[in-house]
Amino acid sequence: MTNTPSSQLASDQMIVRRYLARAGAPPALSPAEAEDCKSEILSLLRKRNALLVAHYYTDGALQELAEETGGFVGDSLEMARFGHDCDAEMLIVAGVRFMGETAKILSPKKTVLMPTLDATCSLDIACPIEDFAQFCDAHPDREVVVYANTSAAVKARADWVVTSSIALEVAEYLSEQGKQILWAPDKHLGSYVQRTTGADVLLWDAACIVHEEFKSRGLEDMRRLHPNAAILAHPESPQAVLEMSDFVGSTTQIISASQRLPNDAFIVATDRGIFHKLQQASPHKKFIVAPTAGEDATCRSCAHCPWMAMNSLESLRTSLSNPVNAIEVNSEVARDAMKPLTRMLEFAKEQRLTVRGKA
Ligand code: 13P
Ligand code: SF4
Repeated sequence: MTNTPSSQLASDQMIVRRYLARAGAPPALSPAEAEDCKSEILSLLRKRNALLVAHYYTDGALQELAEETGGFVGDSLEMARFGHDCDAEMLIVAGVRFMGETAKILSPKKTVLMPTLDATCSLDIACPIEDFAQFCDAHPDREVVVYANTSAAVKARADWVVTSSIALEVAEYLSEQGKQILWAPDKHLGSYVQRTTGADVLLWDAACIVHEEFKSRGLEDMRRLHPNAAILAHPESPQAVLEMSDFVGSTTQIISASQRLPNDAFIVATDRGIFHKLQQASPHKKFIVAPTAGEDATCRSCAHCPWMAMNSLESLRTSLSNPVNAIEVNSEVARDAMKPLTRMLEFAKEQRLTVRGKA
């Protein structure tokens, strides 16, 4: 069951297109320029007692820099946890806006910078707080569960925030308590949660513009070409793609599955930024981008998030050297969003302890 009316969807799509027109990968630096830029960033990180936290979808050079300088690369849950637990005075978050906001809410005393404040997410855009609040008001008896890919204001209205790595566990937990769920914004992840756990889930109607482009028909053709390859998919992909997949999980879980599974080739249905880490983790395995197609497909929608692509060495250097692009969150919104975010971190910690306890 979904909520958003089609007029709303049309206007969301227009907003997304406008952002896409402005977004796009910055021009590449020459190897010598990149080295200069890196060494400047290194000394700025030291000078400002700052740590770089990067998502797997960002440029490989940023991921390497994060790891080389004591920072972190991970999925959105792990980024939130690292930002919260580390004792740097400043965090610079390479990713999209909700990741920077999450870091700021969880660590109000830290300065949180981003290489750009324009890097948003189609899920965040498609879930404006005014409409979402009406949706919640119309279903007061449901537990409000929102995906991390939302604004701080939407999180402030939620009982739970989840990421793709713990969405199933949270839904199972709530369902066992007889609770009904109101889920926003990603309909594909929400419906995957519904099918897998059997929970009673009322869905908001939005999708990730990158994952929505993966198509099952193309995937079938590709599987015929690579019969021994396992298919790994992020749960933001459409149902038909998930049903064909050998493994469905968050970005970190996809990387772990690629190391664990015996196959020597994988077709991967998520942003191609992840190939940097996949290849690093298993240099002898082959990774193939799952096919994207469809009437609305554009080059920019071909398995690469246009907003993640806005993070570059240069934008990172500019942000650190001035410093600019600090994330600020309204204090009341931050106070209310802190509750479901802390709940998410505590729930995830509990899960880890339980899994370790069972092992
Ligand atoms: P992960 O939490 O799996 O890293 O996903 C974040 C995201 O934006 C996927 O598109
Ligand atoms: Fe949002 Fe999709 Fe980009 Fe992830 S890949 S940040 S869900 S638009």
